[in-house]
Amino acid sequence: MHSLRASSTREAKDKRLKTYVLYEGLHRWIAFGRDPEKPERIIDTNQYLIRDGDRSLILDPGGIETFSSVLGAVICHARIDQITDLFFSHQDPDVASSLGMWDEALPTARLHAPWLWEGFLRHFGCNNLTYVPIPDEGGTIALPHVKLQLVPAHYLHSSGNIHVYDPVAKILFSGDVGAALEAPDAPMFVDDFSAHVPKMTLFHQRWMPSNRAKNDWIARVRKLDVEMMVPQHGRIFRGDDVKKFLDWFEALEVGIAVRHPGSSVLASKPAAA
Ligand SMILES: [Fe+2]
Ligand SMILES: [Fe+2]
Repeated sequence: MHSLRASSTREAKDKRLKTYVLYEGLHRWIAFGRDPEKPERIIDTNQYLIRDGDRSLILDPGGIETFSSVLGAVICHARIDQITDLFFSHQDPDVASSLGMWDEALPTARLHAPWLWEGFLRHFGCNNLTYVPIPDEGGTIALPHVKLQLVPAHYLHSSGNIHVYDPVAKILFSGDVGAALEAPDAPMFVDDFSAHVPKMTLFHQRWMPSNRAKNDWIARVRKLDVEMMVPQHGRIFRGDDVKKFLDWFEALEVGIAVRHPGSSVLASKPAAA
């Protein structure tokens, strides 16, 4: 019996989201990802928590399928009444379809999201949360120890799209930009940029519609001091890999379905970004 118990303990699958502390100062950044409970055919997502004094902000909290995993992970780091703010970079279901559940769990919290999507996002259920519309030009979210910058990223890939820059931690939350499609248990950080490129190429070519918008965003981000770029899918970029990503993205032609409609290669990939 003893050896059986030991064996089953060893083989028990860890059902928790993987958790990584990205920055620790007067405030903290914590990443969650690689949900072992995620249904196979939905795209994997990363979630980020900024914990600062009596405020906590969840960036792109995710879809309805991962709500319980994300909530379980987040409350290990903040009491439910300390989760005061949600941020949606855009309207997609992998970002926002959990809205109705957060609306019940955090009735007094604020939801920061692009103004353009308010009438659409409310279809997910937003009766209690206070919707704080982000204007096209961006803005700020002031937490006790950092004033987060809301960086326009329109058409990357959504027509109303915002990223978040933290000038203290020097972290850029880049939504779907920098995303990669790969194995559910893939490492959380890029360790070999060249090897990572094939996992990002199709995603950016197909889901990013505008070369002009892409180059506009690159110019804006190059003015920021970014030590870490954290996307909603795939792996986190650190140090030199941030610059390598910007150079790679600049050279990439996006919006390729205009030239290659109906490509079977494109049609075989997951249908969500
Ligand atoms: Fe996404
Ligand atoms: Fe998206």
